[in-house]
Amino acid sequence: MSTLAFWILLLLFLAAFAAQVAQRVQLIAAAPDTFALDSLGTRTGRFVVDVLLQRRTIRERPLTGLMHAFVFWGFVAFGGYTLTEFLHGLGIVDLTHAGWFRAYRLALTPPATAVLVGILYLLIRRAFVRPVGLGTTVSIESIVIALFIATLMITFLLTFRLEEGTTSGRVNWWVHAMVILTFMALIPASKHLHLVLSPITVFLKSPELGNLPNLDFEKEQVGLETVKDLGSKIVLDALTCVECGRCQVNCPAWGAGKELNPKRIVLQTREALLAGEREKKLGEVYSEKVLWQCTTCGACENQCPVGIEHLPILIGSRRGLVSNGDAPEYLGAVYNHLERRGNIWGLGYDQRQKFVDAAKLEIFDPSRHDVLVWLGCAGAFEADFQKSLRSLFEILRARGVPFGVLSKERCTGDPAKRTGNEYVYQELANGNIEELRAAAPKKMLTSCPHCVKTIASSATRSTSCTRLCSSRSSRAKAARRRATPGARRRATPGARRLQPSVKSSPSTIPAISDATPEESTSPARC
Ligand code: HEM
Ligand code: SF4
Ligand code: SF4
Repeated sequence: MSTLAFWILLLLFLAAFAAQVAQRVQLIAAAPDTFALDSLGTRTGRFVVDVLLQRRTIRERPLTGLMHAFVFWGFVAFGGYTLTEFLHGLGIVDLTHAGWFRAYRLALTPPATAVLVGILYLLIRRAFVRPVGLGTTVSIESIVIALFIATLMITFLLTFRLEEGTTSGRVNWWVHAMVILTFMALIPASKHLHLVLSPITVFLKSPELGNLPNLDFEKEQVGLETVKDLGSKIVLDALTCVECGRCQVNCPAWGAGKELNPKRIVLQTREALLAGEREKKLGEVYSEKVLWQCTTCGACENQCPVGIEHLPILIGSRRGLVSNGDAPEYLGAVYNHLERRGNIWGLGYDQRQKFVDAAKLEIFDPSRHDVLVWLGCAGAFEADFQKSLRSLFEILRARGVPFGVLSKERCTGDPAKRTGNEYVYQELANGNIEELRAAAPKKMLTSCPHCVKTIASSATRSTSCTRLCSSRSSRAKAARRRATPGARRRATPGARRLQPSVKSSPSTIPAISDATPEESTSPARC
């Protein structure tokens, strides 16, 4: 009788779970496919450290992260126990009296205690401490789930005190089983779907921070305009968000008091998707004003422990606005200058030439020069930046490194890319790629972090250049080496954080470290 009741209940709750999951799977399947599986080694490594070892969850909030890790590892450890008890309850096979199961059950007592401690900590934090990132209201759903998890652990520990077969033993078993079934049915409609989806999102997250594949104009791609344009990874991300608020508290725009809140962006995406508002314009889902407040720094997606990428939503939506002529007015002049003069200020190239002459720079010739120094717009036109470049030239000359610059150099297109004007970006990038192909440098050095990022992810993949160096990390390393002779060679933390598309590799030029763009067979990406 109780076996039949358990079968019926299991099937009912499974049906509730499956119906909700099916709705979400349909949303993902209906979205344009943006899943990518390149760089499998990097993805697998990240899966191990960020999912199994919980690095990113622990890194920013060590105590909360550790308590969560107890819950996560405990759940994983309990997998075999739950399966065995369910097989028994369904009358399929009774392994609960096997010697190995008794030993396993005993071994689960420390994890059960750790889960109990962890979940009580998370409950108190959520219900009473309530840090700003978690939101202003107490989430009833979080409280219920925390109480469920605590009940699961308490009922497990009680099995050591209650006799099997007695009424209290049976009640205890049923409470445990019913909590699992109810938990299962609640998961899909709550942020606890992250426990199923986050391993997938972490694995599918681009290995490159702020990855924005170029638009393919031949396929008439124009960016994201309505909810139905959101790609499959964006939909998966929206369903995975655990609402921890780490993106929010690390966002400089939110920190400066702007309306932009990256957590809100993800939750608004989820609301619009679940409400089936496929034709709704993204400018209405998020508000156009908010979309233009993002600095595209990437701190949000760098911090997100469950692999959510915010920039494809933010810049994708900007692209949609720009292609409809809805960019803010102040950008009109910038685009004009970029198109007509190749720099954001609209300055004449005679000014760059004056600097090239005054600094006694040679025009790059691969037969005479080892390194091509990319000046960037700031280097070409901005007096303060030029002071720092002059120091760089002094270092290179003192080290006897032959270097030259291009006779003509346009903006890499980074401002156009980040503000969503893909057309202008591609025009500039293609022009520069032509120049670089003609110059055929093997190594490039630049002081501008924007240029590093853009060149590393586009130009160097289409040209002969195999090494791209950031003078910022090179100078920092040289300084550190002077301060600590024999210090281990490694990239500066800042450089690693801000330039994740660039890996350090052993130098062949004394005192200049090289950075090699991640290997990729994909077309130019930025
Ligand atoms: C069996 C698997 C898991 C269980 C049972 C679980 C359970 C929980 C619970 C109960 C919370 C508290 C939610 C709240 O604030 O109300 C939580 C939060 C969270 N979970 Fe999980 N989780 C699991 C897997 C994962 C995985 C694999 C990751 C990451 C890859 C993850 C990342 C997080 C993060 C970042 C938070 C928010 C912590 C904060 O407030 O900063 N979880 N999880
Ligand atoms: S990329 Fe934009 S949304 Fe994300 S942290 Fe930076 S400013 Fe905030
Ligand atoms: S997007 Fe990521 S970091 Fe932000 S609230 Fe959601 S899970 Fe947390």
